Amino acid sequence: MATEHVLIFDTTLRDGEQSPGATMTHSEKLEIAEMLDDMGVDIIEAGFPIASEGDFNAVTEIAKRSKDATICGLARANFKDIDRCYEAVKHAASPRIHTFIGTSPLHRAIPNLNQDEMAEKIHETVTHARNLCDNVQWSPMDATRTEYDYLCRVIEIAIKAGATTINIPDTVGYTAPGESADLIRRLITDVPGSDDIIYATHCHNDLGMATANALAAVEGGARQIECTINGLGERAGNTALEEVVMAMKVRGDIMPYHTGIDTKKIMAISRRVATVSGFNVQFNKAIVGKNAFAHESGIHQDGMLKNAETFEIMRPEDVGLTGTSLPLGKHSGRAALRAKLNELGIDLADNQLKDVFVRFKELADRKKEVFDDDLLALVKAEASDEQSDRLQVKFLRVICGTEAPQSADLTMIVDGKEVQVTAQGDGPVDATFNAVKAIFPHGARLQLYQVHAVTEGTDAQATVSVRMEENGNIATGQSADTDTVVASAKAYVNALNRLLVKHARSAGGEDFKTVSYKDAG
Ligand code: KIV
Ligand code: ZN
Repeated sequence: MATEHVLIFDTTLRDGEQSPGATMTHSEKLEIAEMLDDMGVDIIEAGFPIASEGDFNAVTEIAKRSKDATICGLARANFKDIDRCYEAVKHAASPRIHTFIGTSPLHRAIPNLNQDEMAEKIHETVTHARNLCDNVQWSPMDATRTEYDYLCRVIEIAIKAGATTINIPDTVGYTAPGESADLIRRLITDVPGSDDIIYATHCHNDLGMATANALAAVEGGARQIECTINGLGERAGNTALEEVVMAMKVRGDIMPYHTGIDTKKIMAISRRVATVSGFNVQFNKAIVGKNAFAHESGIHQDGMLKNAETFEIMRPEDVGLTGTSLPLGKHSGRAALRAKLNELGIDLADNQLKDVFVRFKELADRKKEVFDDDLLALVKAEASDEQSDRLQVKFLRVICGTEAPQSADLTMIVDGKEVQVTAQGDGPVDATFNAVKAIFPHGARLQLYQVHAVTEGTDAQATVSVRMEENGNIATGQSADTDTVVASAKAYVNALNRLLVKHARSAGGEDFKTVSYKDAG
């Protein structure tokens, strides 16, 4: 059956990174962009160039390194934003400017523009963007709560001014599938010029319908889906790339569309985004959750052994999941480690492999068998410890037991200098965190402290996630170790390092979370 192409627009690096706590470093952004390009994403929204020096540099570098993907940057409805955006994306072989303004009554009230004034602003800003770049996307933010007649009017203006893609954002996750399909269908019929542009759908997951709404919009005529890896994004997140792509692949019988995505690359990028964003994927998440292909009950297992199709609508290998193979041990060499990591979709540079190998040997000395999940945790921990980190844990010894108070003897490297303290606390983790605070006093508040056992058994590694907040900036840190307290110390310090990066970024320019949408008006 002939199928129509649906463009995949990934906004992990822009809308995804807007998730409180999901800060990525410059090198992590470049790495994710490369993976997105390699997996066949059509358009990568690489960031919001006016937001900060850091964002501008990341978008510029991603544009320079891009291969097949179009590189897009976000800009509010003003010339300064649009110029800055073009300065960054212009280095790509295929650049795009994405400019937006809130068009619903609630959003019009913020800059206090009446309908005519806003219409004029849209005309001016889209024309300006189009004079700079042939590829311009325009979004009426909060489209699904904008009066229909006004929405038609402003879309027509944007098309006449030169927009080549019109994105319809369901900014607050308010719509439902039937309405989402109808809206696009009606716009295509009612707005002059619709045949010359592509309609895109951009859904948020506040009511858990982002995937359904995006697919319904395609049914209605949209030919671009905006999405993120693992559904990362503001509040409840965005449409998950892996869900829409696999839904169209598995149910091609009722959704006759195709994408350019190499679905075998899904697991690797999902794991990488989870690592660098600090947002773990929930175990029962569709497609990429740890349990998505696990069959626990006897009936299911029996059926699976007789014929996998009894309980499986897609094969694990279709999304890049290889069956759990033999564990590694302390006699395994570097080649075996590299082969196993490749099997897991992880391709490390030689120097990274060297560092991971050292950690692997340490782990294998403590643990008889090193399973796939242990390796993934290890790579995650390695990625969290950047050489450029201002704070590093060097040594930790904790005294704990039935007799309080517990104490932690901690040595850290702070900006290249070694500092040692002993601190007490209510339990070993509290004592350790107090020690870090004594070495590096800070006002950050601990928002979340979470421990997971990576595998089974008392020698299992623990992965620890820590989320910290200071002055509205949020950062998440992670680490893994067979010693839960060591993992806790490293995760805490990792979160602090990320918070320091954020503070530096906000000091260097306008941080996205402090730039209000109000300035769009
Ligand atoms: O959700 C939204 O409305 C957005 C716009 C900036 C497109 O992310
Ligand atoms: Zn959004």
